[in-house]
Amino acid sequence: MEVVIVATPQVGAQLVAESIEELVRGKPGAVLGLATGSTPLPVYDALVASQAGVSFAQCSAFALDEYVGLAPDHPESYRAVLRREFTDRVNLSPDRLFTPDGWAEDVPAACADYEQRIQAAGGVDLQLLGVGTDGHIGFNEPTSSLSSVTRIKTLTDQTRRDNARFFDDDVALVPQHVLTQGVGTILRAQHVVLLAWGAGKAPAVAATVEGPITLLVPSSALQLHPHATVVVDEEAAAQLQLAAYYREVYAGKPSWQGL
Ligand code: GLP
Repeated sequence: MEVVIVATPQVGAQLVAESIEELVRGKPGAVLGLATGSTPLPVYDALVASQAGVSFAQCSAFALDEYVGLAPDHPESYRAVLRREFTDRVNLSPDRLFTPDGWAEDVPAACADYEQRIQAAGGVDLQLLGVGTDGHIGFNEPTSSLSSVTRIKTLTDQTRRDNARFFDDDVALVPQHVLTQGVGTILRAQHVVLLAWGAGKAPAVAATVEGPITLLVPSSALQLHPHATVVVDEEAAAQLQLAAYYREVYAGKPSWQGL
């Protein structure tokens, strides 16, 4: 696992945006794995602002997760968020943005269909990830199987409280159930890039990178991935025991190598 410690979220976001552009330049039909939450927003902003001239027209994108039961046009449905924050701001057509169907009557069939679509697209090339304060990735809450696939999950109270800020600070408005790619689904992406900013994420980052692999911290499963990159700012890196080593490794990396 590579750990990149940056001065600010903007610096980290720029690195990740460049990595995405490099991928798409080499593979115009790349499959992007998109994340929601506030963490990836600077990456989307950097891609939108970029002058690199990379086209997303042939890319497709898969969301990690979706709330169950929010009206399709609800502004906080993850489909709406991803369109608003990223895909509609670049030339990535809504037809090429896939999100789990949080309104499906047959939930297991919808989840199986989502897995099948990811596979049919050739799998995800680069998966962006934030991390919950409890170590969740996507909406894989603690006790999620580390080989799980897309399925329905129940959110913890903590996650609902964390996400209430998107729902007028009213926890009661945050859906209880979600559809999420599984930890196993996420691990099948070619390259996984987990981002974390701020002191509030420091315990989750330390547990992800240096803690034991455990279903109590779903993000710790990334330790099993052959190409996982963790990009964190100073505050989020504060509890890493080997921070000095990660800095040394990154400083000595050839500039052509990318993330
Ligand atoms: C939600 C999303 C996760 C995200 C997490 C962290 O629960 N489903 O994908 O990583 O929030 O959110 P934030 O980036 O806002 O801290």
